[in-house]
Amino acid sequence: MCGIVGFTGKHNAAPILLEGLKKLEYRGYDSAGIAVMNGSEISVDKVTGRISNLCEKTRDGGAVPGLCGIGHTRWATHGAPTEENAHPHLSNDGRFAVVHNGIIENYLALREELTEAGYRFESETDTEVIVHLIEMYYKGSMREALINTANRLHGSYALGVICSEDPGKIYAAREASPLILGVGPEENFFASDVTALVNNTRNMIYLEDGEFAELSPDAARVFDVTGQDIRKSPVRITWDVQAAEKGGYDHFMLKEIMEQPGAVKATIAPRIKDGRVFFEELSFSRPDLQNIRKIIITACGSAYHAGCAGRYALEKLCRIPVEIELASELRYSDPLIDEHTLVIVISQSGETADTIAALKECRERGAKTIAIVNVVGSTIASLADSTIYTWAGPEIAVATTKGYTTQITILYMLAVYFSSILGYIAGAEVAYTDEIQQLPSRIQQAIDLNPSAEALAKKYHRSKALFFIGRNTDYAVALEGALKMKEISYVHSEAYAAGELKHGTIALIEEKQPVIALCCNHAIMEKTLSNIVEVKSRGAKVLALTFRNNQKILSVADDLLFIPDVDAVFSAAIEIVPLQLLAYYVARENGCDIDKPKNLAKSVTVE
Ligand code: F6R
Repeated sequence: MCGIVGFTGKHNAAPILLEGLKKLEYRGYDSAGIAVMNGSEISVDKVTGRISNLCEKTRDGGAVPGLCGIGHTRWATHGAPTEENAHPHLSNDGRFAVVHNGIIENYLALREELTEAGYRFESETDTEVIVHLIEMYYKGSMREALINTANRLHGSYALGVICSEDPGKIYAAREASPLILGVGPEENFFASDVTALVNNTRNMIYLEDGEFAELSPDAARVFDVTGQDIRKSPVRITWDVQAAEKGGYDHFMLKEIMEQPGAVKATIAPRIKDGRVFFEELSFSRPDLQNIRKIIITACGSAYHAGCAGRYALEKLCRIPVEIELASELRYSDPLIDEHTLVIVISQSGETADTIAALKECRERGAKTIAIVNVVGSTIASLADSTIYTWAGPEIAVATTKGYTTQITILYMLAVYFSSILGYIAGAEVAYTDEIQQLPSRIQQAIDLNPSAEALAKKYHRSKALFFIGRNTDYAVALEGALKMKEISYVHSEAYAAGELKHGTIALIEEKQPVIALCCNHAIMEKTLSNIVEVKSRGAKVLALTFRNNQKILSVADDLLFIPDVDAVFSAAIEIVPLQLLAYYVARENGCDIDKPKNLAKSVTVE
């Protein structure tokens, strides 16, 4: 999705803006631009395609003097990815420039009104109405113009604005789209993502919905819709700059796959006290939990798949029914939710529009809500009754890996924690806690056991389609394995519950059709085995994912990926790892842009 940056200080702004935009590339974009103020002159440079084109056009920013400015990467929604539609947009009189993330839902009505009032539109974007509104409302005070403009907008926005009559200042506003201020000595910044700021400062102020900011080199002021200043203290970011760099790997995705043992350790460590799982973020008593009639887990994409996998542990250990709902479906489904429902929303970014809407819907219906989120200070984190951070560190590759495994880890821990409060696992609590503490080393083994993933990718990368099959937790992981494969390698991949094959899908199995069979659950191994035999007898080539010494599968599969031995309740976080590696290497064989797959964005802030 779009990204924005802003800078004001004592250095040339353009190179700093370009560096910030490069850090936002991973979010996905198709054009980019900067506006820099030099004295009272605003100059705008825009390009289609990559930031490198903008660097070339501005000679790495050297050709654009000026100490403050704003920048943008655009992921086209309203209007094609052209230079005209790229941000920043200028007002007709050239005094104002605006960058915007989000969607202005009432832009057509505003466009009509502004056109009648004589404003000329240069683009097809919804954003352009904002800059004309600012021009219309400006009577000498940018605060006033910004507030009056915001009052006219319906939808979501993170805005960055400069005004030639206010040299040295950059303005920002937030409504339902992330925006963070970076506070430094004699310089201040804003951006839609901490990763664009962390090279310059560790001190961040998270803007909330309805808040505005006025930044000069010496001050970062936040104000509300009445124009009154709000006191907000900066929060210090503790992860280091290298966490957002590739660190010697060819791709962020591979680095993030390899980081999983450490990320999962960081998720677990602060939540084990005296050998037991403990969440200080939560305050559930036994009667509170007894009062819950069902749990709904809602999320999108991989986060939804994490819910599908974590459900088994929650149901098995807590004996509470768990429903999994896609957030984009739940929000329009008139869901049966009341004060006896516990809703768990899952989101790596904390900014996914559908998940935010589903969370709001559930809250309105009286549910208790827990958010499992990675990005600190994100919208979902601030909306839920309780927030559990995954502490996975910054995830840059569009395709999530450590985001997913840390989400499942939290679900496992919640299952043990709730079950312990409910008094269901007295004798087994230590053993379950031990299983959880073993996750990081088992994930490491799942990496180490599969050097063959690279060679297997060479064998399978030309396949027209890949079928992933499994039962129970294996099926949940198959869903995520298939998504990983299709989104980065563009090989058509689908997951099927193995027992469902004979109800239709088996018609697609023909000679040499690859089938990736997940068999990591001892209790139902025989069942999956018979599905493997079914597809094999119709000519399929089977790549099985199973335990190292599982002789039954070894003898029927054509190829193998391995995991270490683990209880099926906690296996999903381990099983996915070889499938992530396979997807990565298949994508590499296919020459794909692994960290930035086509048409995808890291943070899906529009519906
Ligand atoms: C796939 C992927 C997406 C996200 C989905 C939700 O690899 O990353 O499917 O899982 O867009 O995003 P978050 O977790 O940020 O809400």
